[in-house]
Amino acid sequence: MINIPKGTKDVLPSQSHKWQFIEDCARSTARVYGLREIRTPVFEHTELFRRGVGETTDVVNKEMYTFEDKGGRSMTLKPEGTAGAARLFIENGLASSPMPVKTFYITPAFRYERPQAGRLREFHQFGIEVFGSASCRTDAEVIFAASAFLKSLKVGTRLELNSIGCKTCRAEYNRALKEYFAPHLSEMCDACRSRYEKNPLRMLDCKEEGCKKFTSGAPAITDYLCGECFAHFEGVKKLLNENAVEFTVNPRIVRGLDYYSRTVFEFVSDQIGAQGTVCGGGRYDGLLEELGANPLPAIGFAAGIERLMLLMENSGCPFPEPEKPRIYIAGMDENTRFEAFKITQELRTKGIYAETDLMERSVKAQFKYADKLGAEYVAVIGQTELSDGAVNVKKMSDGTQSSVKITEIYTYLSKNQ
Ligand code: HAM
Repeated sequence: MINIPKGTKDVLPSQSHKWQFIEDCARSTARVYGLREIRTPVFEHTELFRRGVGETTDVVNKEMYTFEDKGGRSMTLKPEGTAGAARLFIENGLASSPMPVKTFYITPAFRYERPQAGRLREFHQFGIEVFGSASCRTDAEVIFAASAFLKSLKVGTRLELNSIGCKTCRAEYNRALKEYFAPHLSEMCDACRSRYEKNPLRMLDCKEEGCKKFTSGAPAITDYLCGECFAHFEGVKKLLNENAVEFTVNPRIVRGLDYYSRTVFEFVSDQIGAQGTVCGGGRYDGLLEELGANPLPAIGFAAGIERLMLLMENSGCPFPEPEKPRIYIAGMDENTRFEAFKITQELRTKGIYAETDLMERSVKAQFKYADKLGAEYVAVIGQTELSDGAVNVKKMSDGTQSSVKITEIYTYLSKNQ
């Protein structure tokens, strides 16, 4: 027996309606926010993530599924959607479209992490990426979209917001961080010592307990924002306040990916254990330039579908029931089973979810099975019904029966919604 790889999950027929519900909510949100779907390959050149996501991140350093293809090229399964979306934008010349370019995706992503509740090696994201606008209204719009999506799932989360500034203010902040961390460096992990040299901000994201006790007292980035970044952040906060989106500013949020600048945010829950961030995002005004294109501001987020599912299950959010057959057409014997089959196919061509016997069951067993499926109506076709051209249609919820012409079953079902 070959088992499923560690950190991956099957979606069973009894569970897929939950996935469809979350994806439908994602698509509905995307529709009203004017976001158009994009699809990028599952694998990309490794260089894209090295340059895009950043050499000092855990994602690039430890977690990528990288392999050499038969042509000797280094390829990586996408660990997230933003770098691929930016590549798509550049490569397809979308910079010449009217701005902003508003996109979304639903994609699998792959990270070689230690699996636990809400942390998988293959997971799925609903993400949005908006290219071309530096306005704080775009930040607010993207956050509203995330909030509206989460509301449509009826999950409760809290929004934590921060600004990590631009290159200018971050240089000063990095200096302050270096000054703060210098005396503790010998007690911190190897990765932090290397981050200290390359990207001190990333030290705030360290998950090692031994390092966390130092990071908690580090200076706050919000005290080092330059005038423009400060004004931008004030603008975002004002828009959120004015539109009744609750948030708290958490200066410790730096996000695990290097491309961010200015606004960053996370929607967090306490109900799903240690991996409580169900949705995270922010601005990445420097990414397109980093990937070789003209500079262009952009912002987005991604929500983890498995984490949302876990949150919905843990907090008892209702998933809509999977669709039930409107009618089950049973056949009494060999001959009438063929008739039942024909009628069923006809109803399906008219858009009715109908079922019939495929297992040579007795009429009694067919009734039982129809009940198990939750069919709304059952009709039994015997020789008499065939020669009369009419059947008794039984409503399963109250047992009432109506005689209906075989040719009028569709009309009957349409009238009795
Ligand atoms: P991220 O915070 O790395 O951001 O991931 C976004 C979401 O994906 C997380 O909040 C979480 O719900 C889910 N997620 C991440 N890793 C795992 C995992 N191993 N197992 C299950 N779920 C996971 C990004 O990926 C950015 N690309 C988001 C973004 C878009 N920023 C700007 N645009």
